[in-house]
Amino acid sequence: MASSYLKNFLTSCTLWKTFVVIGLFLNLIVNIQKPHQLLSTIWVPPPPPTQPADDHHHRTNLSHIAFGMMGSVQTWPQRRGYLEAWWRPNKTRGYVLLDRAPPPELLPWPQTAPPYRLVDNLSELFRDTKPLYELMPRMVHGVVELLREERDGVRWVVMGDDDSVLFLDNIVDVLAEYDHSKYYYLGWHSESVISNFWYSFDQAFGGGGIVMSYPLAAALVRDMDGCLLRYAQSRSADLISMSCIADVGVSLTPHKGIHQVDLHGDFSGYLSAHPKVPLMTFHHFDAMDPIFPSMDRMQSTRHLMNAADADQSRLLQQTICYHKKTNWSISVSWGYSAQIYERIMPRSYLQMPIETFTPWASGSERPFYMFNTRPQSDDPCEKPHFFFLQSVSTTTSPHQIVTTYKRARPRGLPPCSSAGNHPADSITNIQVISPTKKRLQIDRCECCDVVRVRGAKMEVGLRECKIDEIIA
Ligand SMILES: *[C@@H]1O[C@H](CO)[C@@H](O)[C@H](O)[C@H]1NC(C)=O
Ligand SMILES: *[C@@H]1O[C@H](CO)[C@@H](O)[C@H](O)[C@H]1NC(C)=O
Ligand SMILES: *[C@@H]1O[C@H](CO)[C@@H](O)[C@H](O)[C@H]1NC(C)=O
Ligand SMILES: *[C@@H]1O[C@H](CO)[C@@H](O)[C@H](O)[C@H]1NC(C)=O
Repeated sequence: MASSYLKNFLTSCTLWKTFVVIGLFLNLIVNIQKPHQLLSTIWVPPPPPTQPADDHHHRTNLSHIAFGMMGSVQTWPQRRGYLEAWWRPNKTRGYVLLDRAPPPELLPWPQTAPPYRLVDNLSELFRDTKPLYELMPRMVHGVVELLREERDGVRWVVMGDDDSVLFLDNIVDVLAEYDHSKYYYLGWHSESVISNFWYSFDQAFGGGGIVMSYPLAAALVRDMDGCLLRYAQSRSADLISMSCIADVGVSLTPHKGIHQVDLHGDFSGYLSAHPKVPLMTFHHFDAMDPIFPSMDRMQSTRHLMNAADADQSRLLQQTICYHKKTNWSISVSWGYSAQIYERIMPRSYLQMPIETFTPWASGSERPFYMFNTRPQSDDPCEKPHFFFLQSVSTTTSPHQIVTTYKRARPRGLPPCSSAGNHPADSITNIQVISPTKKRLQIDRCECCDVVRVRGAKMEVGLRECKIDEIIA
């Protein structure tokens, strides 16, 4: 949640600041305050879940999830497009939670966006204990405003930012696998080692999203005043949330489909080798280059959503096959990109992202990232031909989804000679055929075949791997 604060803090960081931060943490540890007499913030916490007993067995669907997106009047005009890209009016429950009432030029509030609510004025609560940053407790408090209105039948609460992009079908399918009557805190780390070090390896980074089961969210709400006072000196909203959740006795369940995106530059290397889990969220598209060449950030977001609308379950799932006649390796990141490498490379290697992006914190030292990377290379046997999503269509007979990927630019290198000199420069389009059926069981990746190579076009078909199939 503390995205811009985190960014400013990290990018301007020097060693002495690290010590200041460590000092602050120590300060926090020795300074945990006695429970205050709680100054009530207006509202009585909600009771435990109220679903009738038989409803418990219905599979979790979108109507069971409440979304609270933290925003501000100032950032709204540039960022509303991110929320509008995934919000389903009258189907998604929740609000964008603003710092103050929108001025007349922002009204009437668009039907295509989440309705807004204002976060409570906490000045009364902090009359005696001043928070380090006023913004941080207010961001944590958003869950109170959300649950105040969205409670009936709510099983899960998802908190994010106004520049978070969510993939609702996948969120539903992932959460349906968990028991919502238990206490759960789902999220994921920052991609940046130093961010996790400075804040916590145990916290969900809120821009990527903080997912709480209802019992946990309700417990957090009940303790909200006490929590905000105990951790008033904390410098990040996400850290306050984690601390308060830890005080409830719950710790993080990491989920690799949730992305804080503390990276800069060209994100394509990461998106072309996404971990093999359903994509749930992205944050910080503003901090990256647009993810598709020759499109701006909003157009890129909507373009990715075209694929998401056709099949979220396969979105960014990496499938690898080989064209043995030419010694090519083909890697498809469904709905986003495809690559041809001019030699045979194992999956274990191709599933490592190419380091097209740059670290979040300038001046920091390796290791930058929480995952392994491959360097960018100009070796013809190493550098892929790169293709990006062009179009998505559905055919009815047979029932298939056809995604096409268009060459981004000429590779500008000679062919890989050690693999037999088979240049792929003439290929300009890759067409990928996939089943229309959602792929919920992803214990194993899909397999693919190069169906044909004709002229400038390559056709690839996705299918389930055979029982003993080895991808090599
Ligand atoms: C979601 O589940 C509820 C039961 O809790 C059910 O009444 C409702 O029809 C379901 N909605 C959808 C869209 O399936
Ligand atoms: C949502 O529902 C309201 C009232 O029921 C209706 O006026 C509005 O047109 C709907 N919006 C969309 C985008 O369907
Ligand atoms: C919050 O309330 C205090 C008085 O309790 C008031 O002085 C302050 O202006 C209010 N802040 C906002 C943002 O409304
Ligand atoms: C594929 O590459 C290997 C060396 O890696 C080479 O021995 C073989 O001849 C190549 N095959 C073709 C069809 O070029």
